[in-house]
Amino acid sequence: MKDKIRLELEKLIDPSLKMSLKQSEGIKHIGYDEEHDLVTLIIAIGKKSDQAERSLRMDVTKLIKQTLGHKGLKLEIEENKKIESITKGKCTFIGIASGKGGVGKSTVVVNIANRLMKKGHKVGIIDADIYGSSIPKLLNVPHEFPHYDENQKIAPITYQTMQVISTEFFTNPKEPVIWRGGMLHSMLEHFFYDVAWDKELEYMLIDLPPGTGDVMLDVKSYIPQAKMIIVTTPHLSASHVAIKAGFAALKLDHQILGVIENMSYYKNPINGQRENIFGEGGGLEVSKLLGAELLAQIPIDQPKKHPAIFDIDEDNGKLYDDIADLIIFNEVDYD
Ligand SMILES: Nc1ncnc2c1ncn2[C@@H]1O[C@H](COP(=O)(O)OP(=O)(O)OP(=O)(O)O)[C@@H](O)[C@H]1O
Ligand SMILES: [Mg+2]
Repeated sequence: MKDKIRLELEKLIDPSLKMSLKQSEGIKHIGYDEEHDLVTLIIAIGKKSDQAERSLRMDVTKLIKQTLGHKGLKLEIEENKKIESITKGKCTFIGIASGKGGVGKSTVVVNIANRLMKKGHKVGIIDADIYGSSIPKLLNVPHEFPHYDENQKIAPITYQTMQVISTEFFTNPKEPVIWRGGMLHSMLEHFFYDVAWDKELEYMLIDLPPGTGDVMLDVKSYIPQAKMIIVTTPHLSASHVAIKAGFAALKLDHQILGVIENMSYYKNPINGQRENIFGEGGGLEVSKLLGAELLAQIPIDQPKKHPAIFDIDEDNGKLYDDIADLIIFNEVDYD
């Protein structure tokens, strides 16, 4: 019975999108109570308006009662946020993961995002490290609560032309975030579906928290097409954990764009020699085991003109610029 109802419903048109409910994946629930011959439906449409709702309600009622001859109908119409979501567009999503904390993931995120932006691309950042969000601090943007735009979507904070969203904006900076898994999940859902992202966004960088848990699984379910960059330090204790994060990404079928070894060495300013303060070999080890390219070895250094972002005339700025080129021109060796 339900299959027949579904088959017929799929032909109806979502008036807000001008596409069939099959194409829009708008049929959310079909229930049938045989005793009372009652059909219960939840249908999602692209954009709710009185007119669209009225027109769909009429079509559905006609179909269920007249054409299919059922006695009762309970119909709920809701808005299908996912259709308009940034995750459905052409944007390239890149998750920056490491498994281990403190290796420089967030620093890598803001620097790659900055170089992509400087090359004229539209870039967004999702700070998915809910408990330890640091992107606003690294970008040095003031703490402000985002406002809702005219469509009731959350307006992201901007850093130059970059769009940024982080839990940090929604909480008191002096209070820790103590949330359970479910809330974590809904926050990410908000970030993907309820933020007024620029529809032309080309690159979205996602700063993933340490570990290989819930957030990675959520990223998979919302954006299966996301690619990953794995960050490690040269120390084998870091690479050991980064490898696990990499394998988790591969198991979830994410393409690994490459590996970045951060804090690779210190270049002694007096004699110009490399000093392997945090050991060596981690980046190569991760790249070998994951079969992914070692994109860069970034030395220990602090930017001169900004708290976290290197300028193009600094050595690390050039390295990040090369990584941005690799991403843009897709010259990464995927084997
Ligand atoms: N190449 C580098 N040279 C010197 N310091 C660096 C380098 N990369 C990152 N750092 C510093 O290391 C610290 C940790 O960096 P960052 O916050 O980016 O790491 P993370 O992996 O995101 O950490 P967390 O797991 O806590 O989110 C910061 O103080 C940052 O300035
Ligand atoms: Mg971080």
